[in-house]
Amino acid sequence: MLQAIPFDQTAAYRKLKTHHKSISKKHLKELFAEDPNRFKKFSIRLGDIVIDYSKNRINGRTLAYLCDLARECQLSEAIEKMFTGDKINATEKRSVLHVALRNRSNTPVFVDGKDVMPDVNEVLEKMKGFSEKVRGGEWKGFSGKKITDLVNIGIGGSDLGPVMVTEALKSYGKKGLNVHYVSNVDGTHIAETLSGLNPETTLFMIASKTFTTQETMANAHSARRWFLETAKESAHVAKHFVAISTNRTEVEKFGIDPENMFGFWDWVGGRYSLWSAIGLSIACYIGFQNFEQLLAGAHDMDNHFRSARFEKNIPVVLALLGIWYNNFFDADTQAILPYDQYLHRFAAYFQQGDMESNGKNVTRGGEKVNYQTGPIIWGEPGTNGQHAFYQLIHQGTKLIPADFIAPALSHNPIGEHHKMLLSNFFAQTEALMNGKTYEEAAEELRNAGKSEEEIAFLAPFKVFEGNRPTNSILAKKITPRVLGSLIAMYEHKIFVQGVIWNIFSFDQWGVELGKQLANKIYPELQNDWPIDAHDSSTNGLINQYKRWR
Ligand code: F6P
Repeated sequence: MLQAIPFDQTAAYRKLKTHHKSISKKHLKELFAEDPNRFKKFSIRLGDIVIDYSKNRINGRTLAYLCDLARECQLSEAIEKMFTGDKINATEKRSVLHVALRNRSNTPVFVDGKDVMPDVNEVLEKMKGFSEKVRGGEWKGFSGKKITDLVNIGIGGSDLGPVMVTEALKSYGKKGLNVHYVSNVDGTHIAETLSGLNPETTLFMIASKTFTTQETMANAHSARRWFLETAKESAHVAKHFVAISTNRTEVEKFGIDPENMFGFWDWVGGRYSLWSAIGLSIACYIGFQNFEQLLAGAHDMDNHFRSARFEKNIPVVLALLGIWYNNFFDADTQAILPYDQYLHRFAAYFQQGDMESNGKNVTRGGEKVNYQTGPIIWGEPGTNGQHAFYQLIHQGTKLIPADFIAPALSHNPIGEHHKMLLSNFFAQTEALMNGKTYEEAAEELRNAGKSEEEIAFLAPFKVFEGNRPTNSILAKKITPRVLGSLIAMYEHKIFVQGVIWNIFSFDQWGVELGKQLANKIYPELQNDWPIDAHDSSTNGLINQYKRWR
């Protein structure tokens, strides 16, 4: 169990409040002018990843106070509790052990006195065997043809991770083997996915921790109906449906052979599950060795997170900076901006990772929080975002801390594209930091031949305050190993923030509410009688729907 420590009553919090008053008046340009060693001081390298956090509104003292805050909130103890299987997901009485799934050093990890590693390794072996059979064409469909299309049916954590990773690692994907993901209960999603697929060569992976999630089960049943229209005999389901779940009873009820079930455990949170059998579609697509590399990269970050001192600990520093802006500068959001087209689902993935984890308003002591917790996470790949929402980041009224992520090497080194991409990556954080003064803007206009009258009119609109904080995350290349490290980095950042905000990061009662509400209204839609059981808005909408359908 994690201690309930009110973070806003710590000595470090008070010091940070006072410190904020003075440093918030300083421009980043001044901070750089005062200290030419900022890059050296405020950057950390781990393997093929460099994190430059020097363009943040901090100095050495800020970092020291922030690390004191982490210490006062007993972060080291919390980290050890997570890694050693303590039931830190207290409201569900569960351990939180996604780190065991990628524990490549294979040291024992105990839950209730039992080492989980033999079970973890057994499932990995099963995934290896299965993925090799599918990739090698040895796994045949009911008519003897090899599999060409994998359809993963799942939602939330049983979808977003595999989608994001298979997109991010597309250049490692097996040619001739296509992966598809169906998540939305909107029939359009499955209809569009299945159109053009051949039931003889399609394999479905029903990915659901609980195997009761409404959307997933509806899609799974529709997929089976579609398949049986061609295959006719239900005995053929065994060759075309596998299950990834913790719920053996429900899997059997659905008609999937338990032989074709890949298990995981209640200590794997949905949004932390891509490392488990939920990653089966990833392993099939990029190959098991690459999947192991992904795990290895995450393990690299786990080891770093567990052992590095806070001042040099990447997830800890990123988390503390997030807290600095969230709780002292009142920033509401945090942008994740990958300069890599393959990472186009990265921000979406961490919308769930972060917002489902830290979107909480009750402390671990059971009281309402009186400070801000999880930020709104959003983002799109550069340079597209530059032509869309960067205007607001540069000149809007809101402070938006942003993470810029880019690889030094492209998987598609075509002409000058990558240099152009990276010149934007470097230029944006520099511009966000420096801004442009009135004098600079006026001078530019003068050089462009504008009259003094035009300059007086135009210059105010061309002023950029700058002083916008960013982190630059530069990787050598987005390999499976690097990607594994980057994902684990954000996972641990989220964990650290939850510990410090004194909330429980590993449950999701808010999402459970949605499930209950839809289940209540669904039966009311089964007939055409008008409804009056709700408020006037809900009644009005339901009744209009009934008239129109
Ligand atoms: O979105 C809420 C959630 O509970 C997630 O945590 C989980 O990833 C998702 O639903 C899917 O749940 P399941 O894997 O049980 O179908």
